[in-house]
Amino acid sequence: MTGTDTIADPIYRTDALIAQDIDAYLETHQHKTMLRFITCGSVDDGKSTLIGRLLYDSKMIFEDQLAALESDSRKVGTQGQEIDFALLVDGLAAEREQGITIDVAYRFFNTEKRKFIVADCPGHEQYTRNMVTGASTADLAVILIDARKGVLVQTRRHSYLCHLIGIRNIVLAVNKMDLVDYDPAVFDAIVKDYGEFARSIGIDSFTAMPISGFRGDNITTRSANTPWYDGPTLIDHLETVEVRTAGDQARPFRMPVQWVNRPNLDFRGFSGLIASGSVRPGDAVRVLPSGKTSTVSRIVTLEGDRDAAVAGQSVTLCLADEIDCSRGDVIALSDDPPQVSSQFEATIVWMDDDALLPGRSYWLKIGTQSVSATVQAPKYVVNVNTMEHLAAKTLDLNAIGVAEVATDRPITFEPYADNRTLGGFILIDKITNRTVGAGMLHFALRRAQNVHWQATDIGREQHAQMKNQVPRILWFTGLSGAGKSTIANEVEKRLHLMNRHTFLLDGDNVRHGLNKDLGFTEADRIENIRRVGEVAKLMADAGLIVLTAFISPFRAEREMVRRMLPEGEFIEIHVDTPIEVAEARDVKGLYRKARAGQLKNFTGIDSPYEAPENPEVRVNTAEMTAEEAADHIVRAIMPLK
Ligand code: ADX
Repeated sequence: MTGTDTIADPIYRTDALIAQDIDAYLETHQHKTMLRFITCGSVDDGKSTLIGRLLYDSKMIFEDQLAALESDSRKVGTQGQEIDFALLVDGLAAEREQGITIDVAYRFFNTEKRKFIVADCPGHEQYTRNMVTGASTADLAVILIDARKGVLVQTRRHSYLCHLIGIRNIVLAVNKMDLVDYDPAVFDAIVKDYGEFARSIGIDSFTAMPISGFRGDNITTRSANTPWYDGPTLIDHLETVEVRTAGDQARPFRMPVQWVNRPNLDFRGFSGLIASGSVRPGDAVRVLPSGKTSTVSRIVTLEGDRDAAVAGQSVTLCLADEIDCSRGDVIALSDDPPQVSSQFEATIVWMDDDALLPGRSYWLKIGTQSVSATVQAPKYVVNVNTMEHLAAKTLDLNAIGVAEVATDRPITFEPYADNRTLGGFILIDKITNRTVGAGMLHFALRRAQNVHWQATDIGREQHAQMKNQVPRILWFTGLSGAGKSTIANEVEKRLHLMNRHTFLLDGDNVRHGLNKDLGFTEADRIENIRRVGEVAKLMADAGLIVLTAFISPFRAEREMVRRMLPEGEFIEIHVDTPIEVAEARDVKGLYRKARAGQLKNFTGIDSPYEAPENPEVRVNTAEMTAEEAADHIVRAIMPLK
């Protein structure tokens, strides 16, 4: 039987049941399991044709789409008078003309046994981030190979990415078998070749099948053209393969808390989606990261109380004791809880046009937790075509690397290989709000394990009280030559006369000592400000009014320091001098050097300055003298007690 026969008489007719008994249809439909999968392949591997065929054979195409498809096939199709299924999938006109699929497209279809969501991602290397996005929610990957070409560089790249992202069900679909006369020797050679590669990257099993998306061989029905093949058809396999949730249910119980449900004083429940395991009333549980324990008293759902719930279900848990638990916490099996740490090794896929800035603080979201995090320079990046490890200073768009990640407070996690929900994270730029990276935690670094915060009896309040003042950080920012140091010096003199305890940290001075190992690259400036921020914070803890005079060109780092301090203690002062004025003064002759090309990365010339958007104080030195500016600032920060 050929594929064309299959089209004429599709066996997956969900529409027949709809016509007979709509209730029965909805009932079966509701209880079907869902399989999410991704198709990987290059433009010519027949990926779109295959997906189009699956949609067509499962009757997920409407009459008008079908009419359009038939006429489009004649107009722009590549398959003569026959239906070109690829046109169904390559929906956008622009894409059709270019002949490639650009973004991740999700398509839905269903058969009598299952519902499916298929992520269709472009295969080129410059779309690695799209593929990672598509793969991140998939339970299975169909790796398409053109039987005439065999295993290619992109086959390896796609397989590596799917494995990296945690897909454990791999289908090797050897397509276009019709073009190699259904020769079993061709199929066997490809399977052997792929098997060797797969083992080398840790894929221990995969299901290989000879198909033709165009002809329909072994898609929904067994093909008479491959009598030597006794495995399942593609649809059979997709309908029966065990999905991830089954494995997740066997693991220990974990539920990230999405929100605290407290409609009135008599009810307090914790709502979330169970990430793994199962739970029953009476189970001993532990709330992380605090470690407090309690017992589950009720499992509440919209349909009433339950006596058990499992991975993949959304529930509200009530606990027997009044313990602290809020969004971002994880409720877990008491005697087998996940780990808690703030330093990790992770694999990171970079997804932004702007490269990773090691040391910069990004938002890290993992499960329902959101924290500030910094990433170190990568230990290595992976060449996704050869799997080689290469040295690198940063991660550029689409790069995949292994690096250390530190969060500003401990998070509850599990290695990604064990639990995608508690091991997978995304990084978000704090200023642009763009998702810049996706990562997979490997393990906690033991470094911080035996280091605990030591409580001391004389704290920041006692220090401040003794000095009879409220600590402050007066953070001066502006271009080189704007007048930061001069004005900060004037302000300090005034505060000194008022018997205030102060200390001035000046850029040039700090670069002679503490930061003499740092230059002026973006990464070095970030580290410069991080260290200065930490030192200034310690001084504020000691009760001092700290003045800092650094260009501090990046908003993100200034905001990071602001967040390290209690509300109101960080006062950003923008010394807002136009670059023409600073350059005309050129006190140190540096602008001249920079213009002459003798000084690289000079702020305002070939390195950016991000002006504050809402500074507490702004002074323009083109309009006032340093003394006037200092008076203005002192008035603005009063009172100091
Ligand atoms: S920051 O950008 O990291 O905050 P910082 O304030 O410490 O800079 O140092 C700036 C001072 O270093 C300038 O006032 C100038 O004297 C000197 N300098 C030397 N090279 C550069 C450069 N490429 N860009 C800016 N300042 C430089």
